[in-house]
Amino acid sequence: MRSRTPEAAEITGRAGPLLHGGRLGDLVGGQLTRLCDVAALDRADAETYAGLLTRSLGPVAERSLLLPPPSRSFLSDDHTPVEYSLAFLPGSAPTLRVLFEPGCGSEDMAENGRTGLRAVRDMAERWHFDTDHLDRLEDLFFPASAEGPLALWCALELRPGGVPKVKIYLNPAANGRDRSAETVQEALARLGHRKAFAALPDADDMLFVGLDLGDWKAPRVKVYLTHDGLTADEAGTIPAMTPAGGREQMAGFVRTAGGYTAEEDGELPFRRRTLTCHSFTETATGLPSGYTVHVPVRAYVRHDGQARDRAAAVLRSHGMDSAALDRALAAVTPRRLNAGPGLIAYVSLVHQRGHPPRVTVYVSSEAYQVQPPRDVLPAQSAHGAER
Ligand code: TRP
Repeated sequence: MRSRTPEAAEITGRAGPLLHGGRLGDLVGGQLTRLCDVAALDRADAETYAGLLTRSLGPVAERSLLLPPPSRSFLSDDHTPVEYSLAFLPGSAPTLRVLFEPGCGSEDMAENGRTGLRAVRDMAERWHFDTDHLDRLEDLFFPASAEGPLALWCALELRPGGVPKVKIYLNPAANGRDRSAETVQEALARLGHRKAFAALPDADDMLFVGLDLGDWKAPRVKVYLTHDGLTADEAGTIPAMTPAGGREQMAGFVRTAGGYTAEEDGELPFRRRTLTCHSFTETATGLPSGYTVHVPVRAYVRHDGQARDRAAAVLRSHGMDSAALDRALAAVTPRRLNAGPGLIAYVSLVHQRGHPPRVTVYVSSEAYQVQPPRDVLPAQSAHGAER
């Protein structure tokens, strides 16, 4: 076993195994408990949700943080199989969500998927929701020879009362990357969204299919696409039906999160891999009801001090204050923000029909590593956030 001194933990800025009893479950349980307070959830809910997260990780929760990550999870840069996010709306405490990979301790993607399915079905039994949509897609996304980079991720939206809303993420490349489009088209069709595939824009890759399971007013099917070298204006104009105001707002958001001006739009250092998410709720029109742009802010900054300022500027421009964001970052780690980039993984803007725009900030657990600060912005390349 590798030994790690307190000094080493200081240098990397990690919260560190020594402060948290040394196990992955204790670290993420503590992070989630403190985040619940930021999201105005009470003590009882915080305990329920921290326990839930730890149990959902299975034996991996007991794993010493002195060991390397349980697998090379694609969920986060340092392979921690957990990531937090805060969804901000003006005038209320942010909503807290936690994303995790139930099968992260598995030997291969097929087993990873089986573990994930079991975890979701356990939750369905406990909270009495049906898994009908998932069941209809099982053979499609869980072949015996499943390929990476994921099999099933689960996100819980942590509501007051101890019963979360459940979302899952599946892998369009499960049958091979060359068959992703086919797999997504078939999945949409099986869920009744026969016209939806045609409404998707051109993209470089299809990264996830997301499903809302359980108690949602209008459960969504979401398709996540990657776009290499997308400019801010392009990000604004992707969904054809967005009104002009919405397009400008989205382009402005991409620039604020990326830290550049309209004049610099299109210049190489600011062309990164951007994710867009297209969500479908009704099946009649085939038109998406929601559009999200995810900016990998960590690819545009030297350290998280800058990323925090970008996220705060985005919040401000949508009429929200950043106090809760600052509290959330402090809840996750005592490290200095200028110790490196990566604590804030993504900043996103959500346009959903019938709702005001929503800002989401994704916060890494950094159980295993803090990236060193960069002297300059990453080299000019279209690939800011490689898989
Ligand atoms: N780590 C992956 C990436 O950076 C997947 C991912 C995790 C992700 N959390 C996310 C993608 C939030 C978009 C938004 O691409």
